[in-house]
Amino acid sequence: MPTLTQKLVITAPDDWHIHLRDNEALATTVPHAAMSFHRVICMPNLVPPIKTTLEAIAYRERILTALAQADIDEHKKATFDPRMVLYLTDHTSADEIASAKASGVVQAVKLYPAGATTNSADGVTNILGRGAVFEAMQKHGIPLLVHGEVTHSDVDIFDREKRFLDEILSVIIKNFPNLKIVMEHITTADAADFCLAQGQHIGATITPQHLLFNRNHLLVGGVKPHFYCLPILKRATHQKRLLEVATSGNPKFFLGTDSAPHATHTKENACGCAGCYSAPHALALYATAFESVDALDKLENFASRFGALFYGLPVNQNTITLIKKEQLIPDNYPYLDGKHLTPLMAGQTLAWSVQ
Ligand code: DOR
Ligand code: ZN
Repeated sequence: MPTLTQKLVITAPDDWHIHLRDNEALATTVPHAAMSFHRVICMPNLVPPIKTTLEAIAYRERILTALAQADIDEHKKATFDPRMVLYLTDHTSADEIASAKASGVVQAVKLYPAGATTNSADGVTNILGRGAVFEAMQKHGIPLLVHGEVTHSDVDIFDREKRFLDEILSVIIKNFPNLKIVMEHITTADAADFCLAQGQHIGATITPQHLLFNRNHLLVGGVKPHFYCLPILKRATHQKRLLEVATSGNPKFFLGTDSAPHATHTKENACGCAGCYSAPHALALYATAFESVDALDKLENFASRFGALFYGLPVNQNTITLIKKEQLIPDNYPYLDGKHLTPLMAGQTLAWSVQ
């Protein structure tokens, strides 16, 4: 029989994969992220991308300026800790990896196959040709964060993750057996099982949308652009397997929202952008997913411990309290200059709230 939990006090969570964007966007995204999380791994797919340590340091300063200007609790400001990532290109050098390590600011390097997703045009065209950089990352203990999809036009969009595992990731792992890798936003049973078959230095993040939804939610009864993200939602059997591994208590799997702020008009569009915005209510979304399989007792480790463990960082000292109290997700938030940002599950009610 399912247990009836009404209140959950857990260690304050971190988000190991978030998009905050830049400049005016930060006025919206930074307070939302800081209200939900302590540490956040800030993805570097800006226009232009964050390719060097100096750019990462400057980007972090812009995020901290937005934080200082945010109208949120001082305690939340004090605990927010954005961590920076370099965007790997065809030209990233091994020296840049050494500087990144020495800076203490850069936490990881992100691999976007060129053309795989939002702002990935400067991504890598010949991934297996980037061996010298992977070698340097392995040497310096800098994790490689992977958007795991092949991009060939002849590969079906629903098969792109699996093909990446078979053709690219397995080769990287074989050639660089000590390189720490995070398989970001995994979406298939194949990726979950691939991750399980590797050593403890290979982990994976899982988003709330891939735990709560499948491709029927995206496509049945009309196209729902706010469920469109990349990698795309897969069939229900994959959703089920992701829920199983996320709630299994295996430290390889941890929280990464992939919260991506696209203005509403760019998603509700004939060529809609990929990304789901979940930062403000991410914890309630994950609680809803974990509760659906009666695994709320596994939420704390997934949200607040396993990511820190993977990155070799201390676990946060503070706690947050989730209560069984309904919250109505707003239809949208003001965003940029007079625009709007529609969150995941806008206008719907979630059973959980963060106190
Ligand atoms: O849906 C996505 N949106 N997937 C990504 O990989 C990138 C992200 C974004 O930056 O908007
Ligand atoms: Zn992302």
